[in-house]
Amino acid sequence: MASDATTRPPVVELAGVGKSYGNVRALYGVDLTVRPGQVTCVLGDNGAGKSTLIKIIAGLHQHTEGELRIDGAPVRLSSPRDALDAGIATVYQDLATVPLMPVWRNFFLGSEPTRGPWPLRRLDIARMKRTTDAELRAMGIELDDLDQPIGTLSGGQRQSVAIARAVHFGARVLILDEPTAALGVKQSGVVLKYIAAARDRGLGVVFITHNPHHAYLVGDHFTVLRLGTVEVSAARDRITVDDLTHHMAGGAELAALRHELARVPGGAPAPDPVESEDPVEGKETAP
Ligand SMILES: Nc1ncnc2c1ncn2[C@@H]1O[C@H](COP(=O)(O)OP(=O)(O)OP(=O)(O)O)[C@@H](O)[C@H]1O
Ligand SMILES: [Mg+2]
Repeated sequence: MASDATTRPPVVELAGVGKSYGNVRALYGVDLTVRPGQVTCVLGDNGAGKSTLIKIIAGLHQHTEGELRIDGAPVRLSSPRDALDAGIATVYQDLATVPLMPVWRNFFLGSEPTRGPWPLRRLDIARMKRTTDAELRAMGIELDDLDQPIGTLSGGQRQSVAIARAVHFGARVLILDEPTAALGVKQSGVVLKYIAAARDRGLGVVFITHNPHHAYLVGDHFTVLRLGTVEVSAARDRITVDDLTHHMAGGAELAALRHELARVPGGAPAPDPVESEDPVEGKETAP
């Protein structure tokens, strides 16, 4: 977290942004700021509108309300290509990789360098391998063998390669949709490390997650969405990980649920009135 990061002008800004799918209002009144060298975390429960929000920034969907600004100028992105041209790269959970192709081949997928004049032009394999190696190393990613099929890497390593790829192709903004959702503790740590590395290289990172602890490890700013709008928006020095957890757990709802559960004898939900076909022995005496 560079100390001057909060004063650098935003790359991407959302002001009062909303999106309706037909008559479903998935998102409304959302303000969000993405600055170079900062990690903006977007949290929220299922259906809160996280994916809708990033699809607007990624050019996949268009907002129906409010303003999206890039470098201060209002824009309307009509395709993911538009977003990429503006330097906004998105790494989706189900990564667009070809599992049987080597790591270096996937690194350049769709943007392969060639050498030699037409019609003898061919893929510049040596350059692809060299560049992949250098870029992964620059991000602190150590892989034994770049020739191994990318499908043999762990989920965390694949996310890391995708992050290094976005950095190499000149992204200024990196959007990560739940990159740690399917990962164990150790692999999540690996991905968080590369999120920090991308931030240190000056990218503005938008990190979408369900996990307040993951968010708090790398985040500079936290936005919690709830039912399509912003419930909390706070800089790191204004919020604790406990506050975040509280909001993610649905705060007041959780307290009400606890109260309800406490009234049930034994502290457990009342048993289903329908008799079970396979009654468990000693059920009544369970604490
Ligand atoms: N293409 C669509 N058409 C209609 N409604 C949609 C569409 N996509 C999303 N929605 C609705 O918009 C709301 C927000 O969905 P969204 O996918 O953005 O939530 P999310 O926060 O990403 O949830 P999750 O954590 O489950 O990924 C939901 O009520 C969802 O049903
Ligand atoms: Mg989603």
